[in-house]
Parts: sequence; structure tokens; C-alpha cells
Amino acid sequence: MGVYVITGGTTGIGAATRLLLEDWGHEVFNIDYKGGDFQADLSCEEGVRAALKAVEERYPDGIDGLISNAGVGPTAPPETIFALNFYAGIEIAEGLRPLLKKKKGCCVMTSSNSITNDTVRMDWVELLTNLRNKERGLELARMIPREQAASVYSSSKRALARWVRRVSPAWAVDGMRINAVAPGNTSTPMTRGMTEEQRNFALMIPIPTRYGTKEFLEAEEIANAIAFLASRRASGINGVVLFVDGGIDALMRSERL
Ligand SMILES: NC(=O)c1ccc[n+]([C@@H]2O[C@H](COP(=O)([O-])OP(=O)(O)OC[C@H]3O[C@@H](n4cnc5c(N)ncnc54)[C@H](O)[C@@H]3O)[C@@H](O)[C@H]2O)c1
Repeated sequence: MGVYVITGGTTGIGAATRLLLEDWGHEVFNIDYKGGDFQADLSCEEGVRAALKAVEERYPDGIDGLISNAGVGPTAPPETIFALNFYAGIEIAEGLRPLLKKKKGCCVMTSSNSITNDTVRMDWVELLTNLRNKERGLELARMIPREQAASVYSSSKRALARWVRRVSPAWAVDGMRINAVAPGNTSTPMTRGMTEEQRNFALMIPIPTRYGTKEFLEAEEIANAIAFLASRRASGINGVVLFVDGGIDALMRSERL
């Protein structure tokens, strides 16, 4: 069976994905700052470098898949959101690309369905994806007030999804695939930290598949999509951003493709 590397596989969506891949018989190497097979804080450069080295040493013959999932929500400082959700996500994918190429593997990134809502700041998305100057991006983040963290979060995830679509043709030329999932609100430690008021606000727009129940999605529902995209069954799928949000995106943007 295959060898998969996952980031943020200790709790929530990452843990559900790790367990599912293990259930399918794969070996899964979890990089996390809490309880990982390799402990690293991926929001800083030393952590990313150490994680890449650990994978290279352990799997010199290559890996079959990468699930780049570690992320923080809008309660984190803006600098951490850009550093972890965007920069670390692509640095890990680019850093492990040679090992993925050896086995014609694939990558799945965890984005968010907030990438299409009106909190996204396209000027920030342009800066992240077009300038690709990390120092400048983090400098910008340090200037953003904490109250705008929702925009920082959705913009970091939009930039990540755009990067996936942008690089996917080149990855395919090398025999690899790269896709993203865009989850809606899901019950995980990230959302369990919400206040009652925040939760009620989030559920103001009901998740269609949960209509009437006031419930979020389950981590396993997102994991099913991630594991599918990471499997050979998805061999024809490249460069997609798969919304796993119970139909919120269709509800809000049914006329747009
Ligand atoms: N829960 C949701 O509603 C939701 C919706 C859309 C997208 N997402 C995304 O899904 C992904 C997983 O989130 P989750 O909801 O399962 O939350 P979670 O907090 O349960 O999982 C995050 C994982 O990342 C790890 N992590 C956090 N900071 C890290 C760091 N600096 N270095 C290394 N590891 C770190 C955590 O230890 C944890 O295992 C994130 O990228 C998140 O943005 C979540």
C-alpha cells in the first residue's frame, strides 16, 4: 500500500483523514506540532525545514501522497494565518514535490468554502499569489488588525486554492495530481472553540444537508473527500477545488460556475 504524509493529522479533519487512510491499509506520517510522528511548528521556517528533512530521510524512495491540511482559524493572529495556512502549505508541497514525483503521487490541500464569500480581500490574494515575497506578505499581516481575521483567513485559503489551480497543469506534466477540498463549517476543535453566539451566526445560513438541525458537518465527511482525491480512484481529477460544504456554495452562488 502507499505512503502518505499529512500535516495537522492529530485532531479534527486531519485526524479523520489519517485514520481513514490507515484503515485503507496505507502508512501515514503525521507532521503536527502536537502529537505528530514528527513534531514541528509549521508556522515558522525552521519547522517547515525540519519537517521536510524528516520526510526526506524517512522516505528517500518517494511518497504516494501529501495531505497538506494544517491550518488555524480566524481566531489566530493574522501573521500566523498567512504563515501557516498559505506559506507553509505551499512550501511543504513544493518541498515534497521531488519525493512525490518519484512515485507519481498526488497532493490534496485543505482550503475552505469561505474562499467565495465576501470577506475575501482580493488585493491580499494577489499579493500572496503574485508577489510570492513571504517577508512582504508577513509584514502586511502584522499591520492587519485582529478584527479583520475573518478576511485574513478566507484570503489565505483563496490564495491557496488559486495556487493549486495554477500549478496543477505543471504537476500533471510530471505525472502528478494536485487538488483542494473546500470544507464548510465542520465540528472540530477549531469550531468547538466558538462561542454560542458565533456558532448561531455561522448557522444563520443553514447548511442544506443539515437543514433544520443546526448542525455542522462531521470531520469524517471531509476526510472521505480528501482520501478519495488522494486515491487512484481520482486519477482523472486534477486542479479542482472540491466544495464539501453540504451545498452552501451552490446555495449562495447557484448561477456561477
Ligand atoms: N473546521 C472547519 O469548519 C473548517 C472549515 C474549512 C476549512 N478548515 C480547515 O481544515 C483544516 C483542519 O482544521 P480542523 O478544523 O480539523 O481544525 P483542528 O484544529 O482540529 O486541526 C488543525 C491541526 O493542525 C495542527 N496545527 C495547528 N497549528 C499548527 C502548526 N503551527 N504547526 C503544525 N501543526 C499545527 C493542529 O495540532 C491540528 O492537528 C485547517 O486547514 C482549517 O483551516 C476547517
